[in-house]
Amino acid sequence: LFKRPWVFIRGVPAMKFLPPEGPPEIAFAGRSNVGKSSLINALLEQGGLARTSNTPGRTQELNYFVPGGFSGEGEDLPPLALVDMPGYGFAQAPKDEVDRWTKLVFDYLKGRVTLKRVYLLIDARHGIMKRDADVMDLLDKAAVSYQVVLTKADKIKPPAVLRLKSETLDKIRKRPAAFPEVVATSSEKSEGLDEVRAAILFAAAG
Ligand code: GTP
Ligand code: MG
Repeated sequence: LFKRPWVFIRGVPAMKFLPPEGPPEIAFAGRSNVGKSSLINALLEQGGLARTSNTPGRTQELNYFVPGGFSGEGEDLPPLALVDMPGYGFAQAPKDEVDRWTKLVFDYLKGRVTLKRVYLLIDARHGIMKRDADVMDLLDKAAVSYQVVLTKADKIKPPAVLRLKSETLDKIRKRPAAFPEVVATSSEKSEGLDEVRAAILFAAAG
């Protein structure tokens, strides 16, 4: 599934524009600039599919990606959709815009029936921060399954990655909706991607 070309099908600026509930959805959440869009491109081996930028606040809608070749009508629905999301935290955009998309992200995470798993991205240089813990609280409360993924692992030394992985695992161990494995990834160096791909397919099927 990850070998075929995927396509962008819809950008959702508000809850009322969500597509009808259909295929299982896997969403990517995390602070602005953590590498959500880059991870999607790396997983799909399609650089430039999701737009990325050095400027935090690049992704401003819920962007839906599905494997190509499904009409989306009747029985011919895609087997899953990946949803790139706006980040939370600091962004270079007007405050009311940021407030709007932050609310959208939180409403979607709490209330989407077909949301099967959230990939919660954490920058390997920073570890879990307050806003990340708040999002975990929300997902635990809403009983939405999530898995923590460390991003930009190429920016710290391998022993530090290992240490952070085990510290992070300790922090999420008691969280009811957290998947009890942490993956370290680098979209830049294509590391950890097969593990995430396998977990996504498993989550979508479950
Ligand atoms: P927003 O949409 O603004 O919330 O950001 P995002 O989380 O989608 O981040 P994005 O994928 O746009 O990446 C932000 C910046 O981090 C870009 O300059 C990327 O090139 C860089 N980046 C992403 N992943 C990696 C990685 O694995 N390693 C390194 N070194 N840089 C990365
Ligand atoms: Mg983005």
